[in-house]
Amino acid sequence: MGIISLAFGLSSMMQLSVELTENELRAMLSLSPPQAPAPRPKPTNVFADNPDAAKLGEKLFFLEGLAGEGTTQSCASCHNPELGWSDGLQFAIGDGVGTLNTPAVRNAAFNNFVFWDGSADSLWAQAAQPIESPIEMHGSRYGVLRTISSDEELLSEWQSLFGQMPAVAQDLTRAPHAAPNEEFSAGWRALTEENRLAVNTAFAKTLKAIAAFERTVVSGKSNFDLFVEGLRTEDEELSKALSPQAQRGMKLFVGEANCISCHFGPLLSDGQFHNIGLEPYKDIPPAIGRPGGIEKVRLDLFNGRNQFSDDTSWKANGQMLYMISNEHTVGAMKTPSLRDVAATAPYMHDGRFKTLEEVVEFYNLLPGFPGVGHREETLNRLLLSDEQLAELVAFIKSLSSL
Ligand code: HEC
Ligand code: HEC
Repeated sequence: MGIISLAFGLSSMMQLSVELTENELRAMLSLSPPQAPAPRPKPTNVFADNPDAAKLGEKLFFLEGLAGEGTTQSCASCHNPELGWSDGLQFAIGDGVGTLNTPAVRNAAFNNFVFWDGSADSLWAQAAQPIESPIEMHGSRYGVLRTISSDEELLSEWQSLFGQMPAVAQDLTRAPHAAPNEEFSAGWRALTEENRLAVNTAFAKTLKAIAAFERTVVSGKSNFDLFVEGLRTEDEELSKALSPQAQRGMKLFVGEANCISCHFGPLLSDGQFHNIGLEPYKDIPPAIGRPGGIEKVRLDLFNGRNQFSDDTSWKANGQMLYMISNEHTVGAMKTPSLRDVAATAPYMHDGRFKTLEEVVEFYNLLPGFPGVGHREETLNRLLLSDEQLAELVAFIKSLSSL
């Protein structure tokens, strides 16, 4: 039985099922601060914290056929709240099938970069991509504006937030789709320069509303948080919220297993990119990861430094200054948050592991070598017992919103 030190402002009377070193105790407390974090302000999106924008964004997120005539999907088709804001599939299925697992939208607002390789620098820039991807929603930016324009209520909400919808979006004599990509370039070429700018501007505002909604989708309190709160407030009842097994898993997580070196802070993610050394999977070419993401984010028309951003300064876009592309980031993917991760099986960027048990078995033995780049040297085989692996899983499960 460990006794918590007074040095942390915690009662010396509270009993834990595990003995924690000072470092482990400090690390544990950092995973559940007294005040739950909120997504940082996002100056590139002036609508980021506008409740009316979030309301409109919510409708658009769930709207089937958002991407225009002939499309059927919504964002929620793949980011279903009932399935942890993901889809429960190994690979996302839209108008085609990709080779990437769908991450949860929950807590995405905490990321400096979104997508597995961080190829978008904001939620609003991110939302442009599934809309025009031929294997996802398979529509166009012009199609989105047409969808909104054809619904009186949506149009009125949109216009009261963003001003006049460009007239070209209501011109039904035009082809229903226009985008700079190959597929819809005919429609795009048929637009005047002025109309293209009007479409991009109106599209960017629409994306910002979707992002405003996504910023509200965050994890709630978990059993682990109740447990820590119990320790802080000397509440015996609350401090029972974490089973002895999960407490032992927590000790491993912050201590011997060193998961916390990448999965830290209240989101249990460093927001950085790492190659953890997953072996090549079936015949899928290994993903290049971060270096590819950096190339894309630099070229992205909707990045925070470009003309559709509400603040193009370096101050508002500091993360764009710190993008590391070298041989050590080849194959690196973004560290996922572990909050609510129990709800979003399967796991990893390619959904190769069906269960959390399979994930911890991977970290335990680190089998094989990655298809590209090299595994980060900070990762070492854990060689834990089955019982300890089960403890780690029990701790991860205790991070689910109640
Ligand atoms: C066909 C399924 C599908 C649809 C439809 C879809 N997504 Fe996704 N979403 C994915 C996949 C797969 C990824 C990961 C892609 C990658 O990392 O390159 C992803 C990634 C994301 C992320 C990044 C999360 C993170 O933490 O990195 C966000 C946010 C997101 N989608 C929001 C949306 C929004 C908003 C829409 C609607 C405009 C949408 N998605 C439509 C499958 C889908
Ligand atoms: C070197 C940094 C690093 C360390 C250390 C680390 N992880 Fe991860 N973790 C990652 C990255 C990066 C991914 C995503 C990798 C990918 O998909 O290619 C990941 C993925 C995961 C996932 C899957 C999440 C999802 O949504 O698919 C779980 C669960 C997980 N880690 C748990 C752990 C546990 C438990 C430990 C300790 C035993 C640990 N991690 C140690 C970086 C790390």
